[in-house]
Parts: sequence; structure tokens; C-alpha cells
Amino acid sequence: MAANCLLQVERLSIGVDARHAVSDTNKPLLAVDDISFTIRAGEIVGIAGESGCGKTLTALSIPALLPEGISCVSGSIRFDGVDLGALSPRELTPRRGKDISMIFQEPMTSLNPLLRVGRQIAESLELHGDTDRTRVRQKTLDIMLQVGLPDPERLAAMYPHQLSGGMRQRVMIALAIVCGPRLLIADEPTTALDVTIQAQILRLLRRINRELGVAILFISHDLALLSRVCDRMLVMYAGKIVEEGAADELFAAPIHEYTRGLIGSIPDRGRKGMALVNIPGKVPSLEELGGIRDGCPFAPRCYTAQETCLTHFPKAATLNAQHRVHCIHADGARHG
Ligand SMILES: Nc1ncnc2c1ncn2[C@@H]1O[C@H](COP(=O)(O)OP(=O)(O)OP(=O)(O)O)[C@@H](O)[C@H]1O
Ligand SMILES: [Mg+2]
Repeated sequence: MAANCLLQVERLSIGVDARHAVSDTNKPLLAVDDISFTIRAGEIVGIAGESGCGKTLTALSIPALLPEGISCVSGSIRFDGVDLGALSPRELTPRRGKDISMIFQEPMTSLNPLLRVGRQIAESLELHGDTDRTRVRQKTLDIMLQVGLPDPERLAAMYPHQLSGGMRQRVMIALAIVCGPRLLIADEPTTALDVTIQAQILRLLRRINRELGVAILFISHDLALLSRVCDRMLVMYAGKIVEEGAADELFAAPIHEYTRGLIGSIPDRGRKGMALVNIPGKVPSLEELGGIRDGCPFAPRCYTAQETCLTHFPKAATLNAQHRVHCIHADGARHG
């Protein structure tokens, strides 16, 4: 494993139980299909892709939080060298929050509406073994200040519904970092917020990364936003990683037609997901995908596709140490 490698996802596939999605073949429906990536300590890695590409399921698989009926069918996830798939739920639970934590698009669904926010943060500390009341209280107020919640004494006594959306997201971030995780998974953390608040939360996440050295897996459908926040980016389409590379390079010189399409599109920030304004069609459903599983899933929408693309998903072409792309045209598109 490479030096400094914190997370190593190798050949991961995530299957949706046939009872949850009807298939007319015997093959399981794969929502995530044979993806591999790494995150180094302190790095910010983005996953971009339209709605339904498998971003959230990829994120949820890391702390083993996949919903009922969905599971990893092959591959491995290693955190700090430890195979998470080999751990029992009892071994895994204490790692959540402490090693790996998560924030979501809508904090209201993750916060307990009946508990004052200060209590929720304190409980997280207590759950991870801190029992000294005075110290827990102090740590709670400190972390609230650290995430930009002013007057923490007063805010700690409030219930989630009494806070604005931006403040709730700050509470979620406080909860996520209070136990000192090394990896924070942020799934569309700013999509539900208006643009000014979005910028503040992005700054906060970057500061947490810089000052605390927390690695971040940042998920968004907005590739432009990711290119400003991340060191590296992965572009997912219909369960596959089609291109990856350094964030600035991927944004400036994308090779895959899908990445180019994402960059050319105008994301609607007020809404989850988006339409590719310059590429007709949409992400196939898992059932539709079954029929083209061996080929490039983007081929039906790609104007440069050739016959072979429908039956054959190309191996990654390596453009440089970080930039890899799965496209038959990649060789002709080498730059630099
Ligand atoms: N609980 C579920 N049961 C059945 N299928 C599911 C479930 N959750 C997700 N899927 C399917 O798995 C695929 C990937 O979904 P996922 O939620 O990971 O996409 P996403 O990239 O996060 O999309 P979005 O941008 O809308 O959040 C989609 O085809 C989706 O319909
Ligand atoms: Mg999602």
C-alpha cells in the first residue's frame, strides 16, 4: 500500500438485492461496479457525477452503513491497512465517528429533533468514552466555537429546528469532528444551502482539513465546486469511475466525454442532481444498465462512441501519475 494511504478501496462492487429492484437476468444489479481509489492522509478527494451514479452508495459502504438490501458483493475497503469488511459490527461501531465520520445534505435527518444540540455533541463524546462532565461540557463549547457557532452557551441549549440551515450544518460538522476522525465523508454537504452559506461551509471544511489534517471525501454533482475544494477528483458514471485526476487538471483538461459534459453543464444548486444541458439522455436505471454492463455505460449518450464501446469497457489509460481515463479515445487525447 502506498505511503500515507489512509483509505484504499479496491475493485469494489455494490449490489442491489433483486427484491429491491426487478431484474430479468440472473446477474445482480450493480449500483457500483468494480471501482478502485485511494485517499491519502490529509487529502481532499471529490466524487462527481449525476444523480443515480452511485456516489452515496460508495460513501455509505465505507463506514458499512449501506441500507437494507444493498451490500458490497466484491472488493475490499481498507482503512489504515485494516480490512473493514473483516470487522464485526462490534469492532466497527467504535470506529464510526472516531476514525471515519459522515455529514449529509440535510442535517435535519441526522440530528435528533428532540435533543438540544449541545447535548447531542456531548453524547457523541460520551459514547466514545469521555465521562468527565466538566470536560465534556468544555469540549462541546470549544468545538462549537471552532465550527463558527457564535455564543455556544446559548446555542447549545437550542433544538435543531430553532437553528438556520447553515447553523444546523455547522452542528453536524461539529458532531462529525468532535471525536477527532481522520476521514470525513461529506455527501453533498452544501447542496441544500444558499450560495453565501455554501461558501462559508466550504471554507470551514477546508479549514478543518488544513488545521486538523482530516482527510475529506467530498461528494457533489457540481464538478466546478469540487475543483475548487479538492486535491483530486473521481468522476463516476452509472456505477463506474470513468476518469480521475488532479482536480485542477481534470477541470482544465478533461478527456472523457462525460467529464466534459459535466463541466459544460450548469448545475442547479438549489436542487439535488442536475441535467447535462449539452448531452442528451440520462443516467440509466440499474435495470437498463444490466443490458450494457460489459460495455461503457456512457456509450449510448456519447457522440464519439464506436461499436466496441457498447460491448467493452476500456481499461484505464494513464495520462500521468494521477490522471487516468477509461475511454478508447484517451490515447489520442494525451496532453502535456
Ligand atoms: N435503497 C435503495 N434501493 C434500491 N436502489 C437504490 C437504493 N439506493 C440507491 N439505489 C440505486 O442505486 C443507484 C445509485 O444510487 P446513489 O444514491 O448512490 O446515487 P447518487 O450518485 O448518490 O445520486 P444523487 O446525486 O441523487 O444523490 C441508483 O440507480 C439508485 O436508484
Ligand atoms: Mg447521493
